[in-house]
Amino acid sequence: MPLSRFPVTPVQQSRLSQVDFNHLGFGSIFCDHMFSMTYENGAWMNPQIQPYQALAIEPGVAMLHYGQTVFDGYKSFRGIDGEVRIFRPEMNARRLHASCLRLCIPIMGADELGEIMVQATRQLIELDRDWIPSQWGQSLYIRPLIIGTESTLEVRAANSYRFIIMTSPVGSYFTNLKKGVSLRVEDRFTRAASLGGLGAAKTAANYAASLLPGSESRSEGFDQVLWLDSNEHRYVEEVGAMNIFFKIGGKVVTPPLGGSILPGIVRDSALTLLRDWGLEVEERRIAIDEVVAAFSSGELEEVFGAGTAAVICPVASIGYKGEIYPVSSSPPGELTLRLYDELTGIQYGKLPDRHGWIVGAPVSA
Ligand SMILES: Cc1ncc(COP(=O)(O)O)c(C=O)c1O
Repeated sequence: MPLSRFPVTPVQQSRLSQVDFNHLGFGSIFCDHMFSMTYENGAWMNPQIQPYQALAIEPGVAMLHYGQTVFDGYKSFRGIDGEVRIFRPEMNARRLHASCLRLCIPIMGADELGEIMVQATRQLIELDRDWIPSQWGQSLYIRPLIIGTESTLEVRAANSYRFIIMTSPVGSYFTNLKKGVSLRVEDRFTRAASLGGLGAAKTAANYAASLLPGSESRSEGFDQVLWLDSNEHRYVEEVGAMNIFFKIGGKVVTPPLGGSILPGIVRDSALTLLRDWGLEVEERRIAIDEVVAAFSSGELEEVFGAGTAAVICPVASIGYKGEIYPVSSSPPGELTLRLYDELTGIQYGKLPDRHGWIVGAPVSA
């Protein structure tokens, strides 16, 4: 049964006129409205849409100290036909649900969460339709967030929570498709534990662990960190904000979902498309030494990342143990470009959505 519409408190004065759509950046501008829901006395309640606003929280809120917070991220696109399309939001709902379970957040069922997220997203899009950018490569990024709000310094799951969905008009996250990104292999620090850790959850701790290595690698001139496994610092895991793929000797290889990396939705979409096209795809552990050996033997054909913010992003070079491996001198590679074109084609309504990935968001003019 479809959910009824959530009550809306509209803004008095829109901030839209302050937005420069030619310089959006990523995630620093927030639309006029947000969705809000609370958890108290054992029940989720009070779903509503209200003006985007500061949250009143006490300094003693355990989430600020112990990190009981989860989030997710998906996008909607203003298509070439003017229609607005949301890309695979139910999958993000399932991942957010899994993140909640791992962080001991009492969440409703995954299907119900998905229905709430889709309905809230549609209403936010309808209300803030003029915030949705229209240039190719731009989109409306949607960020659900669930935080513990109970004020206690005890280390335990909170008894109260806030669920927010905010939206943000964004440009592209990384450098352009022709330049690609440079990655530095991180062989000192670890993003997430190999066994039993938080790596598969989209939660603050994983990003906190990435800040120092990320900052170090940027000061060395790299764009992003390429993570290795926590046990041996030998097997490739993922990149800061995207999953990683290698094309080696005609086959596409990507690390498996073993609980330590984020189960990316664009990763899943890329795997589906690659298999559709009849390519041989392996989800298996891949040692960084194998990548270097494939580069040296000339078998490493392409390296690319996949993620909501990054879309499909060519990797131009990889730095490891003081060496720089120029894995692509003229990105993007043929397969990287084909994937980028297919995925963005589906997202912007240029190509048919054969897998049912798009959820429509009707906007009245
Ligand atoms: C650490 C990490 N890995 C991978 C991804 C890609 O996931 P998705 O394709 O669902 O955006 C992200 C996306 O934000 C991420 O933060």
